[in-house]
Amino acid sequence: MTEAQYGTVYLVGAGPGDPDLLTVKAQRLISQCDALVYDSLVPQEILELVSDSCQLYFVGKRRGQHSVPQSKTNSVLVDMARSLSCVVRLKGGDPFLFGRGAEEAAYLERQGVPVEVVPGVTAGIAVPAYAGIPVTHRLAGSSITFVTGHEDFDKRRPFVNWQALAKASDGLVIYMGLHNLSYIVNELLIGGLCPSTSSAVIQQGTVIGQRCIKAPLNELVRQVNKLQFHSPSIVMIGSYIDFQVEACSPEPANVTMPILF
Ligand SMILES: C[S@@+](CC[C@H](N)C(=O)[O-])C[C@H]1O[C@@H](n2cnc3c(N)ncnc32)[C@H](O)[C@@H]1O
Repeated sequence: MTEAQYGTVYLVGAGPGDPDLLTVKAQRLISQCDALVYDSLVPQEILELVSDSCQLYFVGKRRGQHSVPQSKTNSVLVDMARSLSCVVRLKGGDPFLFGRGAEEAAYLERQGVPVEVVPGVTAGIAVPAYAGIPVTHRLAGSSITFVTGHEDFDKRRPFVNWQALAKASDGLVIYMGLHNLSYIVNELLIGGLCPSTSSAVIQQGTVIGQRCIKAPLNELVRQVNKLQFHSPSIVMIGSYIDFQVEACSPEPANVTMPILF
């Protein structure tokens, strides 16, 4: 099978929820594609940009359950590319940041399917920004780390060394961090982070239902539990949070995103 026999699969970033954060290229491809394969964190309003003839295919995952196994998603993409010229694989945020985009791209490449990535606006920058929180500030240090709080404990890849991160980075932006938050905070404190370090959690950033709490690090877990925060949420740790400029926060978009349990 040669590349000429397949259509192209575009791995497209949908951004973190607000449809206005789609890139121009993403919007163009979504409105022109023959098929769109999408995840849980893509709001309905973005799906409505497709043409009447576009085939929609949901491959969303919930934590702990895989509604469609990754192998099935891979084969759906190859099958679609066999008969259609433009297939969009739409992923929340950016496809290459904690989004398995690279795994899907590598699979498609192995099958001889032309594949192109379209970067998206990642939640770790846009969600804080919609609360007026800049992820870097000259006075808050010189480094920021994007890190996942959810790991496959299958020992096939290295775990996050939270104790080392406590000292290695001036600020942390944690994706999928809610479920293991108690463990993460504990490790950071053991690693030497001051208990009064500023921290915050934002749930459903950029869309209606957006909620934000700020607390000293040693209070964060109690606050998150008390106020019953859920996924999708971004956890932020570091003094950059103190440079919040609420006046610059955009209005969250009037679209709904699922709460993930
Ligand atoms: C599987 S990761 C995908 C990240 C995505 N590739 C990106 O670049 O933003 C999903 C996680 O991103 C974060 N996330 C995505 N959208 C979000 C939103 N609108 N508000 C808060 N967190 C969000 C949450 O931590 C969620 O559990």
